[in-house]
Amino acid sequence: MEQQAFKFPDNFWWGVAGAAHQVEGGNVNSDCWVLEHVPESSYAEVSGDACDHFHRYPEDIAQVADLGYNTYRFSIEWARIEPEEGEFSIAALEHYRRMLATCHVYNLKPIVTFHHFTSPRWFAAKGGWEVMDNAKYFARYCERATAHLGDLIGAACTINEPNVGLLIQDLGFTPTDEQIASAPFRKAAAKAVGSDQFSAFPGCCQHGLARDVFLKAHRMAFDAIKSGRGDFPVGMTLALEDRQAIPGGEAQRDKARRGIDDVFLDVAKQGDDFIGVQTYTRSVYGPEGRVWPDENAERTQMGYEFYPEALEGAIRYAAGYTGLPVIVTENGIGTDDDTRRIEYVRRALQGVRNCLMDGIDVRGYCYWSVFDNFEWSFGYRIRFGLIDVDRSTQKRAPKPSATWLGEIARAGKL
Ligand code: BGC
Repeated sequence: MEQQAFKFPDNFWWGVAGAAHQVEGGNVNSDCWVLEHVPESSYAEVSGDACDHFHRYPEDIAQVADLGYNTYRFSIEWARIEPEEGEFSIAALEHYRRMLATCHVYNLKPIVTFHHFTSPRWFAAKGGWEVMDNAKYFARYCERATAHLGDLIGAACTINEPNVGLLIQDLGFTPTDEQIASAPFRKAAAKAVGSDQFSAFPGCCQHGLARDVFLKAHRMAFDAIKSGRGDFPVGMTLALEDRQAIPGGEAQRDKARRGIDDVFLDVAKQGDDFIGVQTYTRSVYGPEGRVWPDENAERTQMGYEFYPEALEGAIRYAAGYTGLPVIVTENGIGTDDDTRRIEYVRRALQGVRNCLMDGIDVRGYCYWSVFDNFEWSFGYRIRFGLIDVDRSTQKRAPKPSATWLGEIARAGKL
């Protein structure tokens, strides 16, 4: 097929993505809020009002549609929906029902993430994702939320990037699980919630312990969501780097794949409807392990190598391994230079196009992130957004990239 003539499928999901804690503001009942506020905090700043999306979602959703997108991926907040163990807030569920209804008013397909890096304080105080028996709490929340919202959901992600902690540790970043176990911020957070335990994923969690809890919780959540209202695709999302090997590095690459990616992909293969691919860069392996990018290589604000072609590699791997349809649930770049954002997305989308031309079933592409928002422990300094937010006035200003990608979405052509 001629590259120029290529058109994305008419029903392709062109989306933007965000997550509750990063944009809503005032998520005071979450484990992350606790971690932001302990004196020993490792967070650069607190999330505060974030982008006040909790109140401003009607205008925000209208703007996303107006820019040309047809899909909005967002998360519902467990800490609001179940503020105390077993106590469900109808008001919070109604809030998310209104958000979903607003998406439908503007013909946006809502992709709902049930867990995007935040849990209620009470869950953290019970040992969070480090305790196998706690998987049942997540499944119960998924069941209740689906009972209330399921008829309006377009697609659902159970858990966002359950492998991200393992991935970050593989990059050589601290803290290690041993360091987390005795970290002063963990002890302070436990005290703050009146417990002798505190585990919050991903910032304060022993990932080696959490891995199997996530695998179980995902399957339980999948069943809970499927047994409820609505009929929509359900899957998990994974942080997937494009893992490459230089000659002799294949064994090292495959070892990383097995421990960080495949163990989750194996579970996705047990009945999921899709696999959510979230890719920001590549990792390269040689015979001795990781080979780091050249010091002259272009880097993003996160310090990642600027390598948009990673998305194609990650899609091919995930689709080939699982045989499942792929939704790119996140791809993007933290940068102050919006021209580099456009270049990054353009090249990433060329990769998506190559996959589609080879017959790989890619259903959609969601740019991360819709707004400049709370980039977890880095705070607001890192700017992934298509839309700039002045946090003193909450005024939104779409960047050129927002309009550029929206036009591609409208036309279905690069
Ligand atoms: C997460 C987002 C995060 C983004 C950029 C992903 O790992 O799902 O919450 O903001 O990467 O770092």
